[in-house]
Amino acid sequence: MSGSAAGAAASAPILSVRDLRCTIAGQQVVEDVSFEVPATGITAVLGRNGVGKTSTLRGILGLISRRGEVRLAGERIDGLPTHRIVRRGVGYVPEDREVFSKLTVAENLALAERQRNPRREFVAELFPDLVARRDQPAGTLSGGQQQMVSVARALLNDNRLLLVDEPTKGLAPRIVTEVADALEEASKTVPILLVEQNLEVVRRLADDAIVIAGGRVVHVGKARDILEDDDLTRRLLGVHAEHADACDALSERSESK
Ligand SMILES: Nc1ncnc2c1ncn2[C@@H]1O[C@H](COP(=O)(O)OP(=O)(O)OP(=O)(O)O)[C@@H](O)[C@H]1O
Ligand SMILES: [Mg+2]
Repeated sequence: MSGSAAGAAASAPILSVRDLRCTIAGQQVVEDVSFEVPATGITAVLGRNGVGKTSTLRGILGLISRRGEVRLAGERIDGLPTHRIVRRGVGYVPEDREVFSKLTVAENLALAERQRNPRREFVAELFPDLVARRDQPAGTLSGGQQQMVSVARALLNDNRLLLVDEPTKGLAPRIVTEVADALEEASKTVPILLVEQNLEVVRRLADDAIVIAGGRVVHVGKARDILEDDDLTRRLLGVHAEHADACDALSERSESK
């Protein structure tokens, strides 16, 4: 595919997805998805609501029925069950955060620790607010704080790749910035495949981007080039990239849900 994984020219991709097809309850939700994720930086997955972004991540993780070839650092993982894919170093921050609401922040984090020396200090530096709230039940946190817990859980382990699904959805602008700060910092240590509909966040964080429409990859390139292409963003993302500020893009999206 032209322009594919341009940022990975110097090194092999950390993830390569070929002809991925996924079904949910017999319905095909991902048609024929192929792309590569460079071994460094943030790669954005863009596309309108319902095009199959979440299903693509869930297919990579084996959380839904899938066919096709998925390689992590060159090794096939498409035949593995989810827990083995996670053990190989694929961290997941799901779309709806999925914190254990009755458990405290500390308990939520402890449950996520997979390795002997979890990166507790790194996470504590990144999210001081969570340290202060360690004994608070996660269900009583704000949406933004719950998102921090969800991201923090993934960062406790030495992952080779993070899959992060719409981390800023529904958050107030100030919190969007905080979550973006955390992802930017995290991306210095681990490559991230980021589903994100807030184009200001994409503009700030993403190096490369893929655009999905109707369950297929329809465009691959540099995130900046895609965002600067007004016709493309209008056709494939349903917004005017040049004119939409973060809040407009966000509220349009949540209203259209
Ligand atoms: N549990 C499910 N059962 C049946 N169909 C589903 C289920 N989850 C998703 N779908 C369908 O699969 C398609 C892709 O959904 P998916 O959630 O992957 O899209 P998305 O791009 O992540 O959307 P959004 O922007 O709303 O998060 C949609 O048509 C959706 O209706
Ligand atoms: Mg989704």
